Amino acid sequence: MANQILLLTTFLAMTCSLVVAFEPSPLQDFCVADATSSATRVNGLPCLDSKLATAEHFFFSGLHIPGNTSNPVGGKVTPINVAQIPGLNTFGISLARIDYAPMGVIPPHTHPRATEILTVLEGSLDVGFMTSNPDNKLISKVLNKGDAFVFPVGLIHYQKNVGTGMAVSLSSLSSQNPGVNTIANAVFGSNPPISEDVLAKSFQVDKSVITSIQAKF
Ligand SMILES: *[C@@H]1O[C@H](CO)[C@@H](O)[C@H](O)[C@H]1NC(C)=O
Repeated sequence: MANQILLLTTFLAMTCSLVVAFEPSPLQDFCVADATSSATRVNGLPCLDSKLATAEHFFFSGLHIPGNTSNPVGGKVTPINVAQIPGLNTFGISLARIDYAPMGVIPPHTHPRATEILTVLEGSLDVGFMTSNPDNKLISKVLNKGDAFVFPVGLIHYQKNVGTGMAVSLSSLSSQNPGVNTIANAVFGSNPPISEDVLAKSFQVDKSVITSIQAKF
């Protein structure tokens, strides 16, 4: 009897842990994303008929090409996720190349679905992330070529080129669709805009300051 209860408890524990699993292991070799399918989406994109899969579905070319950093922040992300490589669907992994002009930044942002590990290929970067409330501790470091740094899932982080020339980094992310929330764009450039009252109180500034920041987004 005791054995049976133990068995049942073990079985329940195992099945329950499967139910809460964040990203269950795929039950097929692959699930090439079929963006044209109207099939129901189950936490991702429907699969292409596996017989139709080709090397092109698992391939991307162009990571050697620098991104155009001529923009107000001086940083450019080239993502390589399930939108660029449909064969990444369900696999919980993706890449991003990032180019930085001198003094360029990737402004504070989060990836709601991925931890990121960044490595510097060229130049020097000041990188950092903040822990959650109430501490909001800044954990930051200056990285040089060959250094790697981790941004934990969901936490706000940033990068800045602190070298003399261009900088390049390559990131791996633990989702085929990591998502990005850029804080300034989301807060000051939302559509429709958040009320100025809310933002003025939240940032403890005059409404005119909010209006001038909103105008930039
Ligand atoms: C880079 O972007 C800027 C601003 O959008 C544009 O004027 C310029 O032509 C672009 N340069 C290249 C090489 O694409």
